[in-house]
Amino acid sequence: MALRNIVLEGDEILRKRAREVTEVNDKIRIMLDDMVETMKANHGAGLAAPQVGLFKRMFVAEVDGEIIELINPEILETEGIQEEDEGCLSVPGMIGTVERPAYIKMKGLDRYGQEVVYEGTGFLPIVLSHEYDHLDGILYTDKATNIREADHDGDEDR
Ligand code: CO
Repeated sequence: MALRNIVLEGDEILRKRAREVTEVNDKIRIMLDDMVETMKANHGAGLAAPQVGLFKRMFVAEVDGEIIELINPEILETEGIQEEDEGCLSVPGMIGTVERPAYIKMKGLDRYGQEVVYEGTGFLPIVLSHEYDHLDGILYTDKATNIREADHDGDEDR
């Protein structure tokens, strides 16, 4: 496993639409391992492939201690709205208030190419929709209000 460098806001890599993964193979699994390691090392709650320079539709996240890995994710359903502060590893030191779904149901492939579905309320829809946005070149700062410097209280970035 290896740590990967995180691409920062301003780099056009973050603004491109990532491509579908056509085959879930060992290469992809190594990338996912690296992404999880990089996310953890940077105390993030999520990390999308474009954030480490990979134009692939996949991301990793950690929700309630569980690692989520989703390849070629699709949003099946959303419901309601919640407004929370969020940050991003590609926009270090900042937070902003973003409207996200209150409930989300998302499917994708796991690291073995099997279909998986995640659904829930609370933090899950925030992280999953934030990471999904990265795959379409969207940053939370495009949607946020009140973007400001984060207090250094250990808030997790995504
Ligand atoms: Co982010």
